[in-house]
Amino acid sequence: MSHLRTRAVHAGQGPDPAHGALATPVHQTSAFGYGTLEHGAAIFSGDAPGYRYSRFGNPTVQALETKMADLEGAPAAVAFGSGTAATASILLGLLKPGDELVFLGPLYGGTESLFRSLGERFGIRAVDASLRGLPDSLTPATRMVWVETLTNPGLRLHDLSAVAAVARSRGVVSVADNTFCTPCLTRPLEHGFDLVMHSMTKYLGGHGDATGGVVAGSAALVAAIRSTGLGQVGGNLSPQEAFLFLRGIKTLPLRMAAHCEGALAVAQFLSTHPAVAVTHYPGLASHPQNALATRQMQGGYGGMVSFELAHGGRAGAAAVLDRLQLFTQAVSLGDVNSLACHPASTTHSFITPQARAQNGIREGLIRLSVGIEHPHDLIADLAGALDAAGHAGT
Ligand SMILES: Cc1ncc(COP(=O)(O)O)c(C=O)c1O
Repeated sequence: MSHLRTRAVHAGQGPDPAHGALATPVHQTSAFGYGTLEHGAAIFSGDAPGYRYSRFGNPTVQALETKMADLEGAPAAVAFGSGTAATASILLGLLKPGDELVFLGPLYGGTESLFRSLGERFGIRAVDASLRGLPDSLTPATRMVWVETLTNPGLRLHDLSAVAAVARSRGVVSVADNTFCTPCLTRPLEHGFDLVMHSMTKYLGGHGDATGGVVAGSAALVAAIRSTGLGQVGGNLSPQEAFLFLRGIKTLPLRMAAHCEGALAVAQFLSTHPAVAVTHYPGLASHPQNALATRQMQGGYGGMVSFELAHGGRAGAAAVLDRLQLFTQAVSLGDVNSLACHPASTTHSFITPQARAQNGIREGLIRLSVGIEHPHDLIADLAGALDAAGHAGT
């Protein structure tokens, strides 16, 4: 099973041995009977395989973990109830007071705030290396480097092989949040990263009906994260949600191809519209990292597009957003249906105006999560909203 499209369907799943069910059964149980005292003792000590309690492991969840490890090319994976629980479990499982965590910002706001508030409360120092650069930001106390494979909402990239090489040369664990790219477009472990994590809530689920997170990497790192994040913190994914993710991931490669096709068409349209000052999309020749994106991303440039209106600021953005019909105004991303949001007043409203300015998050910026609808309909929707809002195309 060498092709990702095949593995997305089959990895981790097969007809259920009990009754031959083709869909992986939802093992909706909190505890598992282990029969005899000695068998229970062996399961608890790890000497025998088997399940004991769903906080530690569950067959439906394990099928998903196996599938995600396979798709990311990792020996092991562990699933969580949200991407945020996955992030917190990586921190709590691998770091200790006095350690430094260096990240290349901007990150998803929730991740940055988790690093700064939770991390710092427990003596883990979070350092944004985006201005000084990674090599100059690492100190003897640095234990972890964190990047996102595509940033939000600027849609910039990091050279993953270069970041992993710096981390490795300094003996530091490297982590990539691959939520925006998915393993269809980028596989950080192939670039030398130690760990890859996702908010499965987005493209992996794909239908906007479940929250979840996953971390994949070496058996030793994943075991440490699992024991803290599940055993001690209790951030486990429910079997019902695992079922939805298993189902969603089967069509991930097909969906991502449609997201990429639609986003490229939408970006090309926006980039030639006179009301749009700048369009951020890695697939456009005008994107400052188009060459890196072409090298690092496989099979497309993702489903996210951001654009800034030439005039009108927040009122101009509202005039466009409030007129969209096919794009629903909502945060989140990666759903089959298209979403649009105003980062300055939603996803990035909690950071300082200076941080917004530093990251180009101006009042006229709009972020699109391009769904799998026909690109012509999406472009017509955007054209109609831009024209009706007074941003006529000629
Ligand atoms: C890049 C990225 N990482 C992590 C998260 C957190 O994931 P969750 O909302 O599933 O906790 C998000 C959520 O928006 C995200 O966009």
